[in-house]
Amino acid sequence: MTRTHRRGVTTRRLLIGVASMAVASAGLLVPVHSASADAHPWMNQDQPPEERANDLLKEMTLEEKVHMLHGVEQLESPIPTVGYLPPIPRLKVPGITMTDGPAGVRDSNSVDNQDRATALPSPSALAASFDTELAEEHGSVLGSEARALGQAQVFAPGHNIQRVPANGRNFEYYSEDPYLSGTLAGASTRGIQGQGVIATLKHYAANNQETDRMTGSSEIDDRTLHEIYEKNFDVAIADGKPGSVMCSYNKINSVHACENNETLGDLRSKLGFDGYVVSDYPATHSTRSVKAGLNVELPTGVHATLPKVQSALNDGSITMHDVDTRVRETLTTLFRFGMFDRDPMARGQIDEGKDSAAARRIAAESAVLMKNDDAALPLSSSTDSIAVIGGPAKQTAIGGGSSAVKPLSMDNAYDAIAGRAGSSTKVSYADGADRRKAAEEAKNAETAVVFVKDEAKEGEDRKNLSLPGNQDALVNAVAEANPNTVVVLQTGAPVLMPWLPKVKSVLQTWYPGARGGAATAQLLWGDVNPGGKLPQTWPKADEQTPVSTQEQFPGVDGKSRYTEGVYVGYRWYDKENQAPLFPFGHGLSYTAGFSYQDLKLEKPSGGPDDPVTVSFKLTNAGERAGAEVPQLYVGKPDTKAQPPPKELGAFTKVHLERGETKTVTLKVDPRELSYWDSEAKDYRVQSGEYGISIGGSSRWLPLHGTYHVK
Ligand code: BGC
Repeated sequence: MTRTHRRGVTTRRLLIGVASMAVASAGLLVPVHSASADAHPWMNQDQPPEERANDLLKEMTLEEKVHMLHGVEQLESPIPTVGYLPPIPRLKVPGITMTDGPAGVRDSNSVDNQDRATALPSPSALAASFDTELAEEHGSVLGSEARALGQAQVFAPGHNIQRVPANGRNFEYYSEDPYLSGTLAGASTRGIQGQGVIATLKHYAANNQETDRMTGSSEIDDRTLHEIYEKNFDVAIADGKPGSVMCSYNKINSVHACENNETLGDLRSKLGFDGYVVSDYPATHSTRSVKAGLNVELPTGVHATLPKVQSALNDGSITMHDVDTRVRETLTTLFRFGMFDRDPMARGQIDEGKDSAAARRIAAESAVLMKNDDAALPLSSSTDSIAVIGGPAKQTAIGGGSSAVKPLSMDNAYDAIAGRAGSSTKVSYADGADRRKAAEEAKNAETAVVFVKDEAKEGEDRKNLSLPGNQDALVNAVAEANPNTVVVLQTGAPVLMPWLPKVKSVLQTWYPGARGGAATAQLLWGDVNPGGKLPQTWPKADEQTPVSTQEQFPGVDGKSRYTEGVYVGYRWYDKENQAPLFPFGHGLSYTAGFSYQDLKLEKPSGGPDDPVTVSFKLTNAGERAGAEVPQLYVGKPDTKAQPPPKELGAFTKVHLERGETKTVTLKVDPRELSYWDSEAKDYRVQSGEYGISIGGSSRWLPLHGTYHVK
């Protein structure tokens, strides 16, 4: 939506008046309300949210209930926003403003783009930190800025599974692994909601491609749906208690996600969600959604309008109980977040200095050193000349679509490198448009640092995994001219690297946000030691993917068949015994190597509800301080359904001084031992032997143990 919001000019319609006309024309009766203006028992803050919601619900007319079931045009909001649920002044129900998104607060419709915010590193970057505290901080910057801009709710975090490597929105999501995705989304949710802003987990569920995004169906077997595509939401809901979930555009097994009884039913009954569901823009297709579990149709009311709700009540396709339940769920959440007790649209100040410092720290902690031959990095103070090549060095890449932020400010890597290099190092620049000139600059320098990017955006998938344009040729030309070539990637997701053997180092900085330049310079000189790990597998070729047939992706006749089952990402590479370009969990450090020793299981066996606790010694054997991400993988015994060879069950991030040893303890939740039993329609933990493997990447696991479930 592109219209500009004129602040101060409120075009809010007289909602009750308009709705009353609709009622009158439908020949229906609206109860006359008799409560006195000051009789608002639900405004008593001492009552629990559930009671306040019930008290309020009793006072509501059908018209007012339906008012809560859908949003209205953004321009009806008194402040710029992306989604708006208007107030009911008679009942003191506040207006609720909602905006995107996962990489910082989106400014939609403000005059002259006044509502700028901090461009945060992309969620795919954050995931590479494997750091829940950092994810909470990312969320907390997002939440505090949303609050300062008068937004009651943000449409974040987004955490769909990166099933298709070419998905145009992978930069907005975390990982191919549901446990990693859910854990980070849960932490981000805690950060957002810690600021009093409602977080929205999206997009529920199995919204894994942009091709045919509004019409396509994800055709998934029952076990895979639960073990992979609901699992990430399960973990995030348990860890983060989000106030809201957004149902997705796609169909799931041929039923629209926003009216899917099965998935929306699971959301509350199995995943323990107790907030309200909003629809994507627009993903509502019928009034039946109210029965299935959709609380708020967005952006505006098409199906959850008074005449349509009334007629669905008349023909019995929904009941008054359904309407009351949906409204009660929304109201309870709004009470829980104190929205009735403050002005949700009150605006404050963004602390740009503080938030951009956080953006820089997150970018630095999220970078992944993918390759570093001959310790070409870090650069040293004695480097006499550096050729910086490629446009992204002067203009940092960001992802496009609803998550794009109008940044308060952006730095760039070239300036940061020139600043860090100091006067004794010559820094030159070529934008790379002319390959010969770029090669010439590279040849004349001691080290060439070449920046490349992809341009992923919502609404379309990448055509293939190659870097767009002539960037591969540029890297080749530079690497041929200078044996000391370092590649800095600014990509939201995996790309192919045909030039990999020719370059010394590759540093993946993702879409690094407002202070990506400063973070990159810190990493290149080793002021920050890279500690990120890949949250997804990097394939060698377009064809090396679990979803290589047309039927699987993009689908045939509007159906994408998930025939790979639970074998998404590394689960497939493991099963097929294939070597990717870089495995899930891979990431190097400037320190010489971390060593893992002395695995101890707290108990060798336990029951199906017991967690598994293990400890081991981790040593930083190198000469520099650095961070390592120990990853624990579980190998389940054979169940009725064949389990993947191994699955991530726990991880942590450990900072170690040089030479330091720490004892690390990891706890595996029994949920990570379970599988979905389609007959019993529940998660089960099978008795038998569980393999426990621990190490620094999914393909480097020096510690092994066995745990027995009785
Ligand atoms: C996107 C959502 C976003 C919404 C509102 C939709 O097109 O899929 O992620 O929250 O727009 O901007």
